[in-house]
Amino acid sequence: MSTENMLEKIRQTADYIRSQVAEIPQTAIILGTGLGALVDHIDDKKYLPYTTIPNFPVSTVEGHSGNLIFGKLGAKPVIAMQGRFHYYEGYDMKQVTFPVRVMKELGVKTLFVSNAAGGMNKEFRVGDIMIITDHINLFPENPLRGKNYNELGPRFPAMTEAYSHRLIKLADEIAAEKKIRVMHGVYVGTPGPTFETPAEYEYFRIIGGDAVGMSTVPEVIVARHGDMEVFGVSVITDLGGKDVTEVPSHEEVQRAAEKAQPFMMEIMKELVARE
Ligand code: HPA
Repeated sequence: MSTENMLEKIRQTADYIRSQVAEIPQTAIILGTGLGALVDHIDDKKYLPYTTIPNFPVSTVEGHSGNLIFGKLGAKPVIAMQGRFHYYEGYDMKQVTFPVRVMKELGVKTLFVSNAAGGMNKEFRVGDIMIITDHINLFPENPLRGKNYNELGPRFPAMTEAYSHRLIKLADEIAAEKKIRVMHGVYVGTPGPTFETPAEYEYFRIIGGDAVGMSTVPEVIVARHGDMEVFGVSVITDLGGKDVTEVPSHEEVQRAAEKAQPFMMEIMKELVARE
């Protein structure tokens, strides 16, 4: 995507979506590993496959084409992204974050993101839910690099409250009511696709990270650029560090995420309802 016509592309895509959907929600959810089943709780669903949406990145992985889903979660109209674009797949940062740009153009005010992550915090256990309180961006590129469009946000956006304190507090209250154990922590965003070496997990812990993953940070940067309110949550699917001997695998990540899914879903459903 050439940056010259990025604004035009965002508007074109938003126009197309408006032509397809009667009511545009103000709340969006990026369904990461561990939250996919939230789709089952969305009523009156309308699917827009990514392949039919103008300017959306084209999926390279067979059977992983993805959908934008419009519908109602409880009483609240939501847009859900079923499938996201990862940097490790080869997309550039502008492609990874394009859907968030479009959401902003559509009028979305609040973005919920979820992911699977490896835990470095020694208090964490596999299956824990970690509310993201902050992040460390270790991607080789910032999605805002290049020409800044003042229509989209400021040249030098503050990242002081990347993750809404208001929504973190609300999520804590909901977790306490439902007696679900939630941890808080700093998410380290890395390009992947390798899992970390023991020394790298250790390094990320020493610099202040609690969990590490390969997504979320680019989308959150772009959402904050557009002044959206953001809430992020990780499911801890594996643990890493000097003393950890288990080898993380994609299967293990999927399995752990699946187990935590009902709890993550309960919190998210209620949070979106009360938001
Ligand atoms: N590292 C990076 N990404 C991940 C991990 C991990 O250990 N687990 C799930 N996603």
